[in-house]
Amino acid sequence: MGDVDTEQLQLLHKIISKVIHDMKNPLSGISGFVQLIEKNTEDESILTYCSIIQESLVKFDGVCSEVTWATAPEPLRFTHEKVCLSEVVNETIQEFVDIMKSRSIEVVSSLEEDLYCFGDRINLLKAISKVIGNAKDALSEGGTIAVNLKNEGHQAVLTVSDDGPGIPGELEETLLKPFVSYGKKGSLGLGLSFVKNVIDAHKGTVSVEKDAEMGTNVIIHFPLAIKEELL
Ligand SMILES: Nc1ncnc2c1ncn2[C@@H]1O[C@H](COP(=O)(O)OP(=O)(O)OP(=O)(O)O)[C@@H](O)[C@H]1O
Ligand SMILES: [Mg+2]
Repeated sequence: MGDVDTEQLQLLHKIISKVIHDMKNPLSGISGFVQLIEKNTEDESILTYCSIIQESLVKFDGVCSEVTWATAPEPLRFTHEKVCLSEVVNETIQEFVDIMKSRSIEVVSSLEEDLYCFGDRINLLKAISKVIGNAKDALSEGGTIAVNLKNEGHQAVLTVSDDGPGIPGELEETLLKPFVSYGKKGSLGLGLSFVKNVIDAHKGTVSVEKDAEMGTNVIIHFPLAIKEELL
């Protein structure tokens, strides 16, 4: 998808917000009835189907928030809490354990402990998940993802490297903008723009580089909490 200017984004935001608003009622109806079925059955397979429906509704809700966010003319609000970074990165890696196994992808991590920032835990988790998800998508034939977290001059430096085919040349300029996607069926191209939004809000930077030998390195820097904040 090509580049989208601010006016187009504002128009998209209006349309998307209206559509999402109109869909919320029937979807919460579905969720309510699923909960009712869950309460009234002990049948294991029905309960499994119910939890799949509920998970899909949660995922759908996530996509709605992302699209609303990516097109919102104003930046959204973030929470400001003490976040242990190795915990958040580890939790994100755990989310992918099954899918990585099924794709013959090895995830190697080296995470410095006791690094804290003040920020939005949930959104940091989602952002890291987008980066790891992209690396997984790039490794359709299997491969390795290396996740590294360290303290460099009081900055958290998180690097996610994969040995996939690398960023397509045509995306180099626009990669961090919304609705930029290449070579993926059905993707909206919102992942990296979401990552940039989250990391900007943490006063950090995101850079995506083609590895000198093979693959892609995504490097995220942002300030660690200062000692006084941690007391
Ligand atoms: N690790 C990577 N290796 C190779 N290409 C990548 C990598 N990460 C991102 N890209 C390329 O950058 C594009 C933009 O990534 P982005 O995460 O913003 O959107 P997407 O993955 O296409 O869609 P979405 O994240 O909304 O599902 C991808 O479509 C892909 O072509
Ligand atoms: Mg993505």
